[in-house]
Amino acid sequence: MGAPELSWIAWSASARKTASFSSAVDAKPFDVFVFHVGPLQLVGTKTPARRWPATGAPLHKGCLIEPVMIAGALEQVQLNGPEYQVSYFPLNPEEISVAFRAADVTCDLLFPLRRLVTGRETAQPPAYWDGRASNPDSLDGDEVVLREAVAELLAERLTGGQVVYDPACSSGAFLAFLKQRFPGIRAVGQDRSAAMIAIARTRVDECHLGDSLRPLCRLETADVVICRHLNLDVVTSDEAKGLFCAAARALRPEGWMIVLGHTPVLVSSVWMEAQGFQALARCDFTPSRHAVFQLYLLRRSPAKHLRPGL
Ligand SMILES: C[S@@+](CC[C@H](N)C(=O)[O-])C[C@H]1O[C@@H](n2cnc3c(N)ncnc32)[C@H](O)[C@@H]1O
Repeated sequence: MGAPELSWIAWSASARKTASFSSAVDAKPFDVFVFHVGPLQLVGTKTPARRWPATGAPLHKGCLIEPVMIAGALEQVQLNGPEYQVSYFPLNPEEISVAFRAADVTCDLLFPLRRLVTGRETAQPPAYWDGRASNPDSLDGDEVVLREAVAELLAERLTGGQVVYDPACSSGAFLAFLKQRFPGIRAVGQDRSAAMIAIARTRVDECHLGDSLRPLCRLETADVVICRHLNLDVVTSDEAKGLFCAAARALRPEGWMIVLGHTPVLVSSVWMEAQGFQALARCDFTPSRHAVFQLYLLRRSPAKHLRPGL
């Protein structure tokens, strides 16, 4: 990973005068990202990105982070009354470009700051998703990059007969896409929104209505579990941990878990690995490598049973 060059950038940047920006805790602090590349913790704020750089398509704020959003190398984050204050050592565009080029899929991309409204984290209420079911295709735009990335990752693993479980499948569009690419799989979906499940039923092999804290896919039968619900706005950080552990129970030993989404993932790779998983990837890049996004590819330990908490 060009370690000497990155160490040099980190060392020379640390001699510079720090700069800072702040974000109110009840505004959008969740847009602040930290991308760990070797000795550098590249910090910046997510803004609208190019989904398809080759076309003139309008910018869109989804899951993509482009180098232009990086401000510098993180020094520290402090809570100053109602604001998070982020201090960093500024980097020039050439240094940012070198660091971004050196990154690989093992680099961790975090969105560490939570929005707090009167001191508490919030998520959309279940009724919100029932409402979105009236126009489910409106959710698809942000999913295209993620779907293609998952299909590529799974291409060698979904050779036929595998069970793929999505514990919060919404309208089943993601599973239907995988089924189209890999017709031999058995697609199992679950969601707690009755309106979403009514649509999913027409698209996937097996569909269940219910809270995924109680997985309705049989214990240790899934070869792949896709978690697109451990995200900001969908659940809170505490709920995300409980839902991760619940989803893990459906996975067979040495099965694959994929965690992603177009709003920030709320569980860290450090925590997920501590639950008995190995992280083979923590991020992925667009095909043109113009942007990076969160995508955790985790392998469950071979142990027959996970830790008692799971
Ligand atoms: C999967 S995420 C969003 C994924 C994708 N961005 C989309 O919009 O299709 C949203 C879905 O998670 C579901 N969901 C949230 N919490 C859940 C839970 N505890 N159990 C089952 N489904 C849940 C919601 O009902 C909603 O359909």
